[in-house]
Order: sequence, then structure tokens, then C-alpha cells
Amino acid sequence: MPGLMLLRKRNCTDKPLEGAKIVGCTHVTAQAAVLIETLIALGAQVRWSACNIYSTQNEVAAALAEAGLPIFAWKGESEEDFWWCIEQCITADKWQPSMVLDDGGDATHLLYKKFNGTFNTLRGVVEESVTGVHRLYQLSKQGKLTVAAMNVNDSVTKTKFDNMYCCRESILDSLKRTTDVMFGGKQVLVSGYGEVGKGCCSALKGLGAIVYVAEIDPICALQACMDGFRVVKIEMVVKQIDIMITCTGNKHVVTREQLDRMKNGCIVCNMGHSNTEIDVASLRTSDLTWEKVRTQVDHIIWPDGKRIVLLAEGRLVNLSCSSVPSFVVSITSTTQAIALIELYKAPPGRYKHDVYLLPKKMDEYVAMLHLPTFDGHLTELTEEQAKYLGVNKNGPFKPNYYRY
Ligand SMILES: NC(=O)c1ccc[n+]([C@@H]2O[C@H](COP(=O)([O-])OP(=O)(O)OC[C@H]3O[C@@H](n4cnc5c(N)ncnc54)[C@H](O)[C@@H]3O)[C@@H](O)[C@H]2O)c1
Repeated sequence: MPGLMLLRKRNCTDKPLEGAKIVGCTHVTAQAAVLIETLIALGAQVRWSACNIYSTQNEVAAALAEAGLPIFAWKGESEEDFWWCIEQCITADKWQPSMVLDDGGDATHLLYKKFNGTFNTLRGVVEESVTGVHRLYQLSKQGKLTVAAMNVNDSVTKTKFDNMYCCRESILDSLKRTTDVMFGGKQVLVSGYGEVGKGCCSALKGLGAIVYVAEIDPICALQACMDGFRVVKIEMVVKQIDIMITCTGNKHVVTREQLDRMKNGCIVCNMGHSNTEIDVASLRTSDLTWEKVRTQVDHIIWPDGKRIVLLAEGRLVNLSCSSVPSFVVSITSTTQAIALIELYKAPPGRYKHDVYLLPKKMDEYVAMLHLPTFDGHLTELTEEQAKYLGVNKNGPFKPNYYRY
């Protein structure tokens, strides 16, 4: 976590988060612990829960609890436990949260629905996921957002690195650890060719898999074509694929009818935030038998003996079944920490009750904090060059609409 540690080192004396009371709801992993410790080093108080019932690393949650931190998370929570844990972060004696750091929007949702008085007094919400950001924009559209929110999912440093490079590495790790599958020559269908889908497809192609893409957006579909993938409707290949991966952030992308048509042994998993991308609930019928063959691996058996290999019950497979590279998490965590500082320290009036993107200068700062890891050296603009390009010599170096 080099960038985050550098941020901590640079800011631990002036404590920019002094007095901030942060409710955190993220995956509880070793890397998240470094973020939590950093926020505390920068002056914040925190209460923390997990944003996913499977992704908590129990030893990490235990270590944080042993260190005296109010952390409410364990691997394999029930739905009921999940909401109970979040609620423990919101309600405590002499504790009134002033900020939320959310991944998926559940803590924000609970605050908004059940603790609206507290929600209205928040200084800011920082949201990391596509799904959570979508919920915030919906609230804002309906005129119901009563706090300033920062969409860090769409910061360039988050989207390009966490969604794309991280998934490029962790999809293979997840599939290998759970199924020991060999990728060469396997037919894989990836639904969604956004950042996550692009990462998965490029990794699978690199190992010799035959990759198909399903997309609803013609621009992303055309990108997939140009990258050398066949763009198909699920129905066209559903009977022949060996692996199905959803990466859309949408619901019911794989239906029971399609699962019925898949061939024996097909591996089905999800990389998107929501656990409804694969309609897993539709597989809970009396004609099908569920057999747990390993942790996070279920065989669903049809009456004729056909088996589908379902990973992590349709939840985020990489966060449930593999490790995620710390370097990428460092980039995302640094973005989150900087967004919290920006919302907390901003003078009144800079942020209204709306959803904002992290200012580009800060996005560039996050990237800059990570360059020393590679011994990367930036070229500096001359005064003349800066004037010619019409940018400040010290950044931001690109207009907001630049896509990278
Ligand atoms: N697993 C991880 O580590 C990880 C990391 C980052 C994001 N995510 C999650 O992955 C999901 C996708 O993120 P992203 O950044 O790629 O988003 P994105 O918006 O860039 O891509 C999603 C793509 O899915 C397409 N799509 C939507 N509905 C579809 C359907 N029914 N069939 C086919 N394609 C469809 C969209 O057109 C879009 O191109 C989100 O839920 C996000 O929260 C997961």
C-alpha cells in the first residue's frame, strides 16, 4: 500500500481528519485495515462494517477488534447479521457519524431510510462502487440527497486501476483457486465490456481462452470487436461455453432458462457488485440439488445429472475467492482518503447537496503518490510548453472530459 503509506507520512502531523467520525462499510481485508489505520492516523474516529457477507478476512477483523477498534464483520454473515453490523456503526453511545465511506451504498441507504435525522447532518458521503454511485445519483435526481457526496468510482485513478487492472489479475486467481481450471482453448462468455469486463477478457485471452462478449451498449460492443472478441447474445453460445462471467452491475443477466441450457460442468460466476446478476434465487427449486464441494463452490445438479459449478453463490467472485493485488487497492484507498479529507476540509459552500467527482488535481496526486514504486520519473512542462497547451505547469494536465 505504498501510496497510502506515503499519504499517511505526509499528513500525520497536521491531522486533516481531526474530529471526523467516519462510518465505514467496505470489504474488510488486510488492505482495508491499512486504510482504517491511515484514517485514524490522520485524526479520524471510525466504526466499521463489511459491505459483503463473504469477503471479510476474519483474522483481520479480529486483529482490528483486538486493537480496540469498533469493527463489526465476519465471513459468512447472514443477511440479518449484515444489517445489524452496519447499524452498530451508526448507533453507539456518544457517537454521531459525520461522514460515510461506503462501497455499494448499503450504509448510506440504511442511514437515509432509518436514521434520516443523522443522514441530514452528515458532512459528506464517499462512495466507491458503480452500484452505490448509481443510488446516489437517483437520490440526487429526485431532490432527496441532503448531503454532499463524492463519487470516487469514477475518478480515473479508481476506475482505470481498480476495475480494470485489478480484475485483470484477480479473475484468473479466483477461477484457479476454486476450480483448478485450465484456460487454454476454453470457451468463455463475459457479459459486460466495461472496465471490469475489459480486464477479465484481456486476462483470459492472454491464457488462450476463446472469449465471447455480450453487451447492450454499441460503443462497448464495438470496442470488444476491435479488441478481437466475438460479440454475441448469450443465447447464441450458452450451450457451448465452459465458463460464464458476469461483469455488468445489472440484475438477472443470466436467467434460469439460460442456466437450464448450459452444458454439464459449465462454471458460472459474477464479478459485478450485485449478487443478482446471476439469478441464483431461481436455482433454489425442488428439482435441483445443491452440493457444496468446497468453500465457495457449489455444484447445482439437474435431474438428468447435469452439473453447473456455481462460485460464491453468485457474489463477487474475486473478493470472495481470491486475493486482490494490494497495489491496486492502495490506489483506490488513497483516492477514498483524499475524498474524505476534501469533503471534510472544504469551506462551506464548495460542495452542495449533490454528487461530485474528485477534482482532477487530486486524481493526479493519487497517481503521483504511486509513481515512486516504479521509480517512475515525470517529465516537467516548460513555461513555454504549458502556455502552448493552455494548462498550469503543475496540473491539472487534462480537461475533465479527457477519457485516458
Ligand atoms: N470484482 C471487482 O473487483 C470489481 C471492481 C470494480 C467494480 N466492480 C463491479 O463490477 C460491475 C461493473 O463495473 P464496471 O466498472 O465494468 O462498469 P461499466 O459500467 O464500465 O461496465 C458495465 C457494462 O455492462 C454493460 N451491461 C449492462 N447490462 C448488461 C446486460 N444485461 N448484458 C450485457 N451487458 C450489460 C454496460 O453496457 C457496461 O458496458 C459493477 O457492479 C461494479 O461495482 C467489481
